[in-house]
Amino acid sequence: MISINTHISLRPFNTFGLDANAAHFCTIHTIQELSQLLRQAPPQPLRVLGGGSNILFVQDVDGTLLKNEIKGKEILHTWANKVHVRLGSGENWHETVRWAVEQGLGGIENLSLIPGTVGAAPVQNIGAYGVELKDVFVRLHAVDLLTGQSKTFWKKDCLFGYRDSIFKSVHKGRYFITDLVLSLTRQHHSIHVQYGDISKTLEAMQVTGKPTIHQISKAVIAIRSSKLPDPKVIGNCGSFFKNPEITTALFENIRQNHPTAPGYPLPNGQVKIPAGWLIEQCGWKGKRVGNTGSYEKQALVLFNHGGATGTEVAQLAKEIIQSVKTRFGVPLEAEVNIW
Ligand code: EPU
Repeated sequence: MISINTHISLRPFNTFGLDANAAHFCTIHTIQELSQLLRQAPPQPLRVLGGGSNILFVQDVDGTLLKNEIKGKEILHTWANKVHVRLGSGENWHETVRWAVEQGLGGIENLSLIPGTVGAAPVQNIGAYGVELKDVFVRLHAVDLLTGQSKTFWKKDCLFGYRDSIFKSVHKGRYFITDLVLSLTRQHHSIHVQYGDISKTLEAMQVTGKPTIHQISKAVIAIRSSKLPDPKVIGNCGSFFKNPEITTALFENIRQNHPTAPGYPLPNGQVKIPAGWLIEQCGWKGKRVGNTGSYEKQALVLFNHGGATGTEVAQLAKEIIQSVKTRFGVPLEAEVNIW
C-alpha cells in the first residue's frame, strides 16, 4: 500500500509561500509507486505537483495531490557530437542544467536557474534568453491518470508553443509525466548569445571569443539573480503573465503615443510586446498592495512579501489585467496556474 497523508499544509511546496491545504497528499518516487497508487483508487481528482514554482493556490486542494519525486539522470546514447539523456521528472531543473554543464553537455545552459522540476519543463515549454525546451526535446513518457496506461509523446505530439503545450490544453491535468529524453551536444555547441543582456554580461565578465557553456550559464545566473527575486527570500513564481501577442495595427497605435515601446515581430505577422513594459507603464512596477505587489526590478513578477493570501495575489493580477486592457487595449493572460 502507498501511504496517503491527509490535511497537509502546502506552504513548503509552493514558491509563492502561500497557505493552502491538500485534502490528500502522496509522494511518488517511482513509476511502480504511481501504478500501485492508481490501483488503490485514491480520492479524485488527482493533481500533480512538481516544484510548485508556477502555481497560485487560491483555495484548499481537494482530491489527492501527487508530489513528484521521480529521480534519475542518465546518458542513453552517444554519437559523435550528440547525446540523448534521460531525466526523471521529479529532478530539480536547475540542478539538471548544472549536471549537464559540468559534463560538458550543451543545449540547456541558457535555461539556468529556472525554478521547478524537469517534469514541469515541457508542460509550459520553459524558455529564456533565446532558447526553449522544445529546441532540445526528443520525447517524454507519461502515465494516464485516468487509465493507468503509459504513453510516449514525441516532440510533434506535444504541440509546443510559447509557454504552451498539449499538457496545458487538450490534456490538461490528465498525465503524470515520468521522464524526458533530451538531445544535447558534446562539442561544437550551438551558442545563443543574441539576447541583449547575455552578450553585455559576457563582456562584463571579460569573455572574448566564443563563450563556453559554463560561461553562458554563469552569465544567465548573474542576469536572473539581478532581476528576479529569490523565492527563498520573497515568495514569487517568476513571470506571472505571458508576453501578449498583438496585431501590428494595435502595436503601431501604441507606438504613436509611446515611440520607444518595445515589440518583437513574430513570423505569424503579430508583434510580441513585453507584459513587463505594459505593467510598468500603468504604474504598477514596484508598487506594494498589502503584502503583495509587482516587483521593483521586473514588473512582470508578482510577489508575496509574507502573509499574503492567494486571493489577494489573484485580485492584484485582476486589477493589473484591467488597467492594461483599459490603457492599451491589450488582454494579459496569466502564465502561472491558478488552483
Ligand atoms: N520591461 C519593462 N519593464 C519591466 C520589465 C521589462 O519595460 O519591468 C521591458 C524592457 O523593454 C525589457 C523587455 O521588457 O527590455 C524584456 O524584459 P526581460 O528581458 O526581463 O524579459 P521578459 O520578456 O520580461 C521573458 C520571460 C522570462 C525570461 C526572460 C528572458 C515571459 C513571460 N517571461 O521575460 O521568463 O527569463 O524573457 O528570456 O516570457 C518566467 O517565465 O518565469 C521568466 C522569468
